[in-house]
Amino acid sequence: MSKPGDYAAVRKDIIKLLHQPEYDDGSAGPVLVRLAWHSAGTYDAETDNGGSNGAGMRYEREGGDPANAGLQHARVFLEPVKAAHPWITYADLWTLAGCVAVREMGGPEIRWLPGRTDYVDDSKLPPRGRLPDGSKAADHVRAVFYRMGFNDQEIVALCGAHNLGRCHSDRSGFDGPWVNNPTRFSNQYFRLLAGLEWKLVTLPNGVKQWVYEDEDGISERLMMLPTDMALRDDPVFCEWVESYAEDKELFFEDFAKAFAKLMELGIMRDARGRVINGDNLKGGYHS
Ligand code: HEM
Repeated sequence: MSKPGDYAAVRKDIIKLLHQPEYDDGSAGPVLVRLAWHSAGTYDAETDNGGSNGAGMRYEREGGDPANAGLQHARVFLEPVKAAHPWITYADLWTLAGCVAVREMGGPEIRWLPGRTDYVDDSKLPPRGRLPDGSKAADHVRAVFYRMGFNDQEIVALCGAHNLGRCHSDRSGFDGPWVNNPTRFSNQYFRLLAGLEWKLVTLPNGVKQWVYEDEDGISERLMMLPTDMALRDDPVFCEWVESYAEDKELFFEDFAKAFAKLMELGIMRDARGRVINGDNLKGGYHS
């Protein structure tokens, strides 16, 4: 067991578990990034509830939300790390794991601070329905991310995480990866989104998504969600899609800032970085 506060030891153990030859594309990284994002993406700036405190997905009402289907894999991957470092909260572990995974897959270093608290019961969970729906258009994407306090540039930067991982028909109903190498963080998602000719198809389960098949049909069919295409087709979002497609460094810098901000949603700190609203979790949020 490590000493309380030894986050370097936790980081090391997270790195060790990323390699998962039997799982998906051989890495736990993408689903860990999604766990971190969904743990924070429930934030509502107006009522100041939801966000990365609490680790509410341990409870059925949040964990069983169809939007979170599949994230139990990420939580199970992390259990041995929690067992080896029982002093870390789940809320800190999930957010830290997302940041470490991005870095280990070749992405930027993301500033991360500890101090999140875990809910002690399921009475303070944010309502379901706050996470984005991939079948929708730009106005929905804006409504969801503006609610968290993000602007158009930050929205596009964050969605660049779709350079990682894949859709699973038994989780979201969508199917396939966005890029050819889905365990390597880069700006390829933006290059493909802006540069390829995408075709709208209806899958056998009735779900509509965009696909690209290369001419020889050798590589796996790539996909885009309707919300991904909305970034390309919206006049403001598309400026950022093009900037990030052209400039990987700019994307990495902006992604690191926006993801760090995402991980802090719902957390208040004093000047020294200590969390000052952790008690809210026991006493209840104002809503
Ligand atoms: C996967 C939707 C934004 C990171 C997915 C999946 C959907 C989705 C439907 C497939 C889930 C599955 O079938 O397993 C959306 C929508 C977004 C959005 C509608 C916003 C409009 C984001 C953001 C991040 C992110 C902001 C992180 C910063 C990921 C990752 C995966 C993923 C890493 C792959 C997970 C895996 O391989 O298991 N997303 N997402 N997404 N999303 Fe998003």
